[in-house]
This record gives sequence, structure tokens and C-alpha cells, in this order.
Amino acid sequence: MKAVVIEPLKENTLHIENVEIPEIKDDEVLVKVIRVGVCGTDKEINEGLYGEAPQGSKFLILGHESFGKIEKIGADVKDFKVGDMVVATVRRGDDCINCVAGESDMCLTGNYKERGIKGLNGYMSEYYVEKPENLVHIPDNIKEEAVLLEPFTIAEKTVIQVFKIQQRMVWEPKTAIVFGTGPVGLLTSILLKLKGLNVYAVDRTEHIDDAKAEIFKRIGINHINSKQENVIDKFKGMQIDIIAEATGNPIVFNECLQLFGVNSVIALLSVTGGNFKTDIDVAKLNYDMVLNNKLIVGVVNANKSYFISGIKDMQEIRDKYGDILEKFITRRVKVSDFNNSDLQKANFELKTVVEFE
Ligand code: BGC
Repeated sequence: MKAVVIEPLKENTLHIENVEIPEIKDDEVLVKVIRVGVCGTDKEINEGLYGEAPQGSKFLILGHESFGKIEKIGADVKDFKVGDMVVATVRRGDDCINCVAGESDMCLTGNYKERGIKGLNGYMSEYYVEKPENLVHIPDNIKEEAVLLEPFTIAEKTVIQVFKIQQRMVWEPKTAIVFGTGPVGLLTSILLKLKGLNVYAVDRTEHIDDAKAEIFKRIGINHINSKQENVIDKFKGMQIDIIAEATGNPIVFNECLQLFGVNSVIALLSVTGGNFKTDIDVAKLNYDMVLNNKLIVGVVNANKSYFISGIKDMQEIRDKYGDILEKFITRRVKVSDFNNSDLQKANFELKTVVEFE
């Protein structure tokens, strides 16, 4: 079968390899891949920045945003049947207390593995094998957008965790700012809007493509271009309850710190690149956070519970806004044509997907 592979920690090694179709054990299922989403993590792995092949292997099969159909089930598998549509989770935990409790996204040791990223092959191959506990059923009405479920779970975890933490007080959030209009930022904006907030999505792109423009319009998200408008001036004096940072840009994080209000939360969803140094006044930050009960929270990965609740929210988005999530897919590439330059181009697309059928 065809598989999209890279050689970890080397630059631009992405290519198609022919590999054996994996065999299933009695407690496993064989999934026929329909499509896999491409994300910034894949691009960075192919740039050699991180990534780890399975033990004893030279290559890592890429891809962690999956969507497929069950082709075969092992004799002991109960909850799935042939033909079921599924998405697989990404992280496989170790034996720390969090992983054992089903919270591998909160792994205490860092000794987890991640499919398509760290020590385990990903889903960009015609078939993959998985245990049922790492799969979720996809209902028919969201099958076209289900490939977005994995990035959607990051938004889902963010919103659920922020609301959970804020149970520390009477909290009626009204206004949110989301920095970044890539898939994770935009999905977070949509979800916050679904939860009833007034949402401002901030980016600094020169040109807003049609897909994004339609998403802003149909969902009713306020779009702000920070190159044209000064965000600090724009929000001065406004009570901002939630700020989500989905750009990974340290300058933007600095702006978040200036914008967050009394009893409010900053959620950080992206890894900050580079070594930008700033002279943040730590004493002032401490003073301000204490006196105003402010909170900064980091959010990475998502365990299965967020895939399950994410499906419900995706269905609600479907009911309320129709096919809007399908608009995220702005480029489709056949697996046999997928190469290094597609990964470069993926940066300029809202979502590129690799098609296997
Ligand atoms: C994935 C997460 C993963 C993270 C770090 C992201 O692209 O969505 O599931 O934990 O990369 O490897």
C-alpha cells in the first residue's frame, strides 16, 4: 500500500513508500483511509525540527488528522463493525496517573507517543491498524467535515477547560478575542460563537480568501486585521473575558497580556517559535494577575472525551450553520501526487487534505 513517509530530523524527505498492509490481531481493527488533513505540525516534522520514527524504523508515516472506514475487525472486537466511519485519536499514553485515567493529553512524564509525530506511524497510508478504544464513530451527517475532528478537538478542549476552570466564580463571559485564523484559531472562534459569545478573530493576512470571508459572514464573527487596525487601541476599555492565542507568535502573546481583563483567561494553543525576548514587567504582571484573578492556561492535544464531545458540537454546527465546516477544505491532493511542495503550499491554504479514494 502507498504511505506518505518522512525521515525524522532531516529536511524535506517526504515521499511515497510502498509498505505492507498491516495485519490485525483479535482485539484490533483495520481502517481503510479516506482522507487525512495536513497541518503545521506535519510541515515542521518534514523540516526536520522534530518527529520520531517507530523503534527500529528509518521512516515515520506522517499524518494525525484522520478519517476512514472500517474494513476488517478482529474476533474480539465488539463496539465496531465493518463499514463504520471512524476518526482515531493521536496520543498513546504511558503508565502515569493521568494516562492511566484516560487523560493522556495531560501526561505527567512526557513519555507518551503520538501517531504520525512521536514514535508511532501516522495515518497517511491506505490502511492503518488500531485498537477500538482509540477510535470514535463518525455519524453520517458530519462525514464530509469529519477529517477536521482532530484539529477541532483542540478548540473543544480549550473551551471546555476554560469554562471548567472558571467555575471558580460566577462567570458570564460575553466577549472573546481569538488571535489567529488558521484552522485551530478559526474552529475556536466558531465554537465560542456557538457557546453564545461575541467573537473577534484577529489576524494580519494581506488578503482574506473566499473561504474565510464566508466563514466570518455566515457565523457572524467580527474579523480584525491587525495590520490595518491597532488591536490594543481597538479593545481599550472593553471587558474581554476569553483570549485564545493560536498564532504561536510571541509578539501576539505580549498583546494578549495587555488585553485581558478582570476575571479573564488567556488560553495558549500554539507553540511559540524563535527566541523573541521582551522586557515584560514581571512585577506588574504579578500585581495585575493577583488583583484581577487572571489566569493563563496552556492547552495541548486532546484525549478521547474531547473527540466525543467534539462530534456533538460539530453536529450542532452542521444544524445551525449548514456545511460551513466543509468550507475549511480549500485543497485536495491525491495521495499519489502528494509531495514536498504540497506541504509548503499547505501553509497558504486553510486546510489541505490528502485523498486516498
Ligand atoms: C496535534 C496534537 C499534538 C501536538 C504536539 C498537534 O498538531 O494536533 O494532537 O499533541 O501536535 O505533537
